[in-house]
Amino acid sequence: MSGLAYVNGTITSIEEARVPVEDRGLQFGDSVYEVVHCERGRYFRLGPHLERLARSLQAIELAPPLPLGEIAAEAQRLLSVSGLSEGVLYIQITRGTAPRQHAFPREARPTLIMTLREAPPADAALAARGARLITQPDLRWARCDIKTTALLANVLAREQAARAGADEALLYRPEGTITECTAANFFAVIDGVVRTHPADNRILQGVTRAAVLELCRSLEIECREVALHLSDLAAAAEAFITGTGIEILPVGQIDQEWRRAPGPVTARLRQAYRELVQRETGQR
Ligand SMILES: Cc1ncc(COP(=O)(O)O)c(C=O)c1O
Repeated sequence: MSGLAYVNGTITSIEEARVPVEDRGLQFGDSVYEVVHCERGRYFRLGPHLERLARSLQAIELAPPLPLGEIAAEAQRLLSVSGLSEGVLYIQITRGTAPRQHAFPREARPTLIMTLREAPPADAALAARGARLITQPDLRWARCDIKTTALLANVLAREQAARAGADEALLYRPEGTITECTAANFFAVIDGVVRTHPADNRILQGVTRAAVLELCRSLEIECREVALHLSDLAAAAEAFITGTGIEILPVGQIDQEWRRAPGPVTARLRQAYRELVQRETGQR
């Protein structure tokens, strides 16, 4: 099946679902979103995703159209109507529909949109060779911690990667600090220590990233939330990227210079993450 859509309480096929042309999500990117993984008919870490959604909503001063517990219940309803067991849930809340003007409209009611589709199968060949990244300047704004749908800078950087035959773009600030990728957090392993950018306004604070930090603690792998500079890459024995869909994906190449085979720390974390998902979705 091609998946289901939900718009303000109404479930239809994705093709049939509609929002008005004056929806502020469409006109201004005035909206926030989440993507949640579903396995064996259960959402993985729906709670942390909804907590981040609540933080994004608060940051843009938008009250949710339903209490978060009811959004969770609607997401469960969508899942049971779909009959899917492995899926990808997308949740978006916009500031609603109103005649176009920048300041918040007084009357609009937020639009709650969800889609649920079958999850694409894991790409074993990609995981075996490692993702190819190209470095790109991070042209995004200073609130990358808000999971907004205003993603044009991410889109443009990812397109550069696609044109170069790469899988992702690795973003860096003007002084050379590595932040993250266009749709994933970035980690490097240097002298056995896992390093990633601190959870501040320059990155999206990934739910997968948080799970990796937990796993590092439980596996006693030293991990530091310290920004990496482009010049630190030469010393990195391994690198990986994380996100809801890709989980933990080894990096095999960054630009022309940096090439590595997927390494042992990444492999341990990948396996531990799979076990975590299976445990929390009731498979083990
Ligand atoms: C910019 C960015 N960083 C990181 C992530 C990973 O976040 P999560 O692990 O919550 O999927 C995403 C996910 O879409 C993202 O868009």
